[in-house]
Amino acid sequence: TEELQTLVLTTLDAKGTIGNTKEIKDSDNNEVDQLALLGALKSLSLDKEMIRYETIDDEIWVLTDEGNEIADKGSHEAKVFEAIPAGKEGITISELQKLLGDVTKIGQGQAFKNKWITKNGNNLIRAVDSIEDQTRFDLKTIRSTGKHSNPKVLSELKKRKLCDKHGEWKQANFKKYNFDALGIPPSGGHLHPLMKVREELRQIFFEMGFEEMPTNKFVESSFWNFDALFQPQQHPARDAHDTFFLKDPAISTQFPTEYLERVKEVHTNGGYGSIGYGYNWKIEEAQKLLLRTHTTAVSSFMLYNLAQKKEFKPVKYFSIDRVFRNETVDATHLAEFNQVEGVIADKGLTLGDLIGFMETFFGKMGVTNLRFKPAYNPYTEPSMEIFSYHQGLGKWVEIGNSGMFRPEMLEPMGLDPEIRVIAWGLSLERPTMIKYGIDNIREVKMISDSC
Ligand code: PHE
Repeated sequence: TEELQTLVLTTLDAKGTIGNTKEIKDSDNNEVDQLALLGALKSLSLDKEMIRYETIDDEIWVLTDEGNEIADKGSHEAKVFEAIPAGKEGITISELQKLLGDVTKIGQGQAFKNKWITKNGNNLIRAVDSIEDQTRFDLKTIRSTGKHSNPKVLSELKKRKLCDKHGEWKQANFKKYNFDALGIPPSGGHLHPLMKVREELRQIFFEMGFEEMPTNKFVESSFWNFDALFQPQQHPARDAHDTFFLKDPAISTQFPTEYLERVKEVHTNGGYGSIGYGYNWKIEEAQKLLLRTHTTAVSSFMLYNLAQKKEFKPVKYFSIDRVFRNETVDATHLAEFNQVEGVIADKGLTLGDLIGFMETFFGKMGVTNLRFKPAYNPYTEPSMEIFSYHQGLGKWVEIGNSGMFRPEMLEPMGLDPEIRVIAWGLSLERPTMIKYGIDNIREVKMISDSC
């Protein structure tokens, strides 16, 4: 097939266009197999987009057995003419019948029509000196070319059952079905509404100078998901009723040792202006693997890495991806949902920057009515829940949670005490439901893992 493709390309190169693929000749100047050629054309045009082609619908006519017989030996009318001796005497019909049998009747009629013969009393005589057997000639043409230039001749001969346009496929060799072929990609389908809103939000983040965080690990350690975020080990969220823990493997042992020690210290005895929780912090608890309950686990990891850099540069990070919570599924809750996470780190940031960010960000989505309500998170102080007024529902709905990360979370990482970090976690499902008028969260549930 590669050879055929090259042949097509070199022929095209020489000729510019090819009117009919039958013009394509191989190196021995032979016609090439048209079926194989079609394969080559398809791959050159569909896969490689190197050529364009159209198929020509070609009618091939073939002779019936009787047609072939006539092409070989002459038409019935010619046989009748040949059987009648030249001269005024002629021959009687019964004699003719004896000579030609069945052929007589049709042949005689057609010979009369052609004015080849006439009657002399009861005898048939020749009316002309010589004849041209047009039927035989036409059939021979059809047999060798599959065509005839006069469609009337074709329909006449078809009526006489001497030729037909069908039949070639009966002898044809059909290409086998290739069940491994990929086929043409369907042009239908569309993005899931969640993915549409995700795209919209991503574009807004990029527009505002954010970088996307890598969220491709659904499994995290309790350390990054909770401990690094100053979430105490006996916090109810760390219960198996709220979190999906892994059985196999159940733990991770890879942690930055010094940082882990500082986290342990701040939980136990406090520091960085914090009095800590005053409990017995256990590494076994931090090692437990889980399905991340929030993408803030990624933020803590990213901020730790930021703190390890020699020189601090302000950053803006975001991510939109799945998180998991061991919840009873109902109309507004799923065991998994998508979180829109954001982090801005810079010196001198204030709560006003956080509010300002929210207003700009939601304003770009066309949401202008926002309200902020004081809230509590172990890792942020102050913390704010974000509400938006929903016209359709006629009420304020919670769209996210936010705050400024605590010094006792940031400073053990090694970040300069002057660095402030504002952060938030929004739901992707909420704005999607609002936008598409969906009232049951199960209807926006993700179907595909590819998202
Ligand atoms: N992690 C919080 C949640 O899952 C959201 C949040 C992120 C809040 C960052 C404050 C700061 O609800």
